Amino acid sequence: MIMTPNLQLIQHPLVQHKLTLMRRVDTHTQDFRRLMKEISLLLAYEVTRDLALKKELIQTPIATTQAPVLAAEKNMVIVSIMRAGQGLLDGMLELIPTAKVGHIGLYREPTTLTVVEYYLKLPNDTDQRDMLVVDPMLATGNSAVAAVERLKEANPLSIKFVCLLAAPEGIAQFQEQHPDVPIYTASVDERLDEHGYIVPGLGDAGDRLFGTK
Ligand code: URA
Repeated sequence: MIMTPNLQLIQHPLVQHKLTLMRRVDTHTQDFRRLMKEISLLLAYEVTRDLALKKELIQTPIATTQAPVLAAEKNMVIVSIMRAGQGLLDGMLELIPTAKVGHIGLYREPTTLTVVEYYLKLPNDTDQRDMLVVDPMLATGNSAVAAVERLKEANPLSIKFVCLLAAPEGIAQFQEQHPDVPIYTASVDERLDEHGYIVPGLGDAGDRLFGTK
């Protein structure tokens, strides 16, 4: 994993290989969805590397020993930015089964271009949890920025933003607005096209995940 303070590039060979398969135009919905789940499990593994541990006295069949367990009283909350964020949830929950899940839905009002929140549901104890905000694509950064702004109001202990692909434009915008929130991504692609798609990207993640196109 390449580490700069606020951008962590996950370069694990399995992640990179699976991402290439997802990018291919001839990878169809069923495989795309499976790959997204597999990658999200690997992303969860990488983004939880710094979880604090504490020692607990346990009994093995042979002896008692002080052994490490996760220190946090409460586990994480994973927040999906709808709808493509759903694709990253299942794999992450497989690795972190005690995590709670939140959802946030945003759309861009076509005339004013302002971001409108149409759905928000978070666990009541979000202020006692570390938060992972997940969306496969960090493109313009507008929805990620707006989502994190709203989610900060719930006062989680910490926030990380996790995506598969990021455009340099989206990273710059996100880091300007939320310098305190690290971005984890499997790739920084070249640029955005005139429609806001990431180039070379993988197309519309939601459509490819749900087969809606
Ligand atoms: N959202 C997507 O699903 N794909 C892109 O390339 C950009 C935003």
